[in-house]
Amino acid sequence: ALRGSFAPKAEKPNQMSHYGLRVQASYKVAILGAAGGIGQPLALLIKMSPLVSALNLYDIANVKGVAADLSHCNTPSQVLDFTGALELGNCLKGVDVVVIPAGVPRMPDMTRDDLFNINANIVKTLVEAVADNCPDAFIHIISNPVNSTVPIAAEVLKQKGVYDPKKLFGVTTLDVVRANTFVAQKKNLKLIDVDVPVIGGHAGITILPLLSKTKPSVSFTDEEIEELTVRIQNAGTEVVEAKAGAGSATLSMAYAAARFVESSLRALDGDGDVYECSYAQSDMTDLPFFASRIKLGIKGIEAQIPSDLQGLSEYEEKALEALKPELKASIEKGIAFVQKQP
Ligand code: NAD
Ligand code: LMR
Repeated sequence: ALRGSFAPKAEKPNQMSHYGLRVQASYKVAILGAAGGIGQPLALLIKMSPLVSALNLYDIANVKGVAADLSHCNTPSQVLDFTGALELGNCLKGVDVVVIPAGVPRMPDMTRDDLFNINANIVKTLVEAVADNCPDAFIHIISNPVNSTVPIAAEVLKQKGVYDPKKLFGVTTLDVVRANTFVAQKKNLKLIDVDVPVIGGHAGITILPLLSKTKPSVSFTDEEIEELTVRIQNAGTEVVEAKAGAGSATLSMAYAAARFVESSLRALDGDGDVYECSYAQSDMTDLPFFASRIKLGIKGIEAQIPSDLQGLSEYEEKALEALKPELKASIEKGIAFVQKQP
């Protein structure tokens, strides 16, 4: 959760945070696609972080007003706006964390992969600029299809000679947020205590909640497992259908992305106890990219947690094998997209 981030603590620079470190607003964050459905509420939530000193908002249009509006909040970060390709480089200079929610969302009856043709190019172009201007930044990819856009970003960074697999993240936090919510509701648990790891990828059956590893330990019937797993896998579609043509999840996504940003900033700030699920380059399976729990540190991914894949239930073992072909194809599609370009 956005622990402790709602009070402007950095106005008292020597104040200690709940985890015993000094809270100072010192990190620069950029949002690319900041005027969009996710970008605007995400910018608001990041504006509330006591760890952020500068918030750079980039979009191809409409970002000036968003920045003017946000800049009146009396929290520490300075908000700047950047419009269009000519201003992208300046937006990214010196940035510690870049969040990318730029691109088109799904309409009903579309899969995330149907967004590939438009969003692949958008992500490629934006990551090229990240490589040129802030190659050491943590990069958080939200744009769908995440299963392919993260491999696209990795290839772009490789071509530019600046790929650091520990700093490229597909944001799958929303899957964890949803799993926690649905499990807490179903089992009548205190929401704040519930933590369900979600592994694999971020589309349909590639989203695999490990209900057997729910904390606190809780038992489910076979029917509950099936019902919860399917609901978590289809939760994006649930929102797309409810919005009926007006896009996909934006508010819950902004909440989830803000949590992942805050976790990244806490890790950069020296907190040694930061764990999140994310879709990244991985040794956990035979697939080159895979979402699982990671430990975040100053240099990005400090460790994967191989024991998370041990002791899975039979249901989870089967689902893991079943998701691999689809995830593999999405990864290969992303890599091929960059490699086939002249
Ligand atoms: P939106 O259409 O409301 O906003 C997208 C923004 O991106 C717009 O402001 C648009 O101007 C901007 N944009 C388009 N091309 C750009 C470019 N070349 N450079 C910079 N900005 C550009 O869409 P949204 O609802 O905010 O969703 C954005 C993306 O996030 C979609 O691809 C959606 O599928 C994805 N998404 C991912 C998750 C996840 O869990 N990872 C969850 C929800 C949505
Ligand atoms: C989500 O999970 O809500 C996003 O990936 C958006 C979508 O298209 O479902």
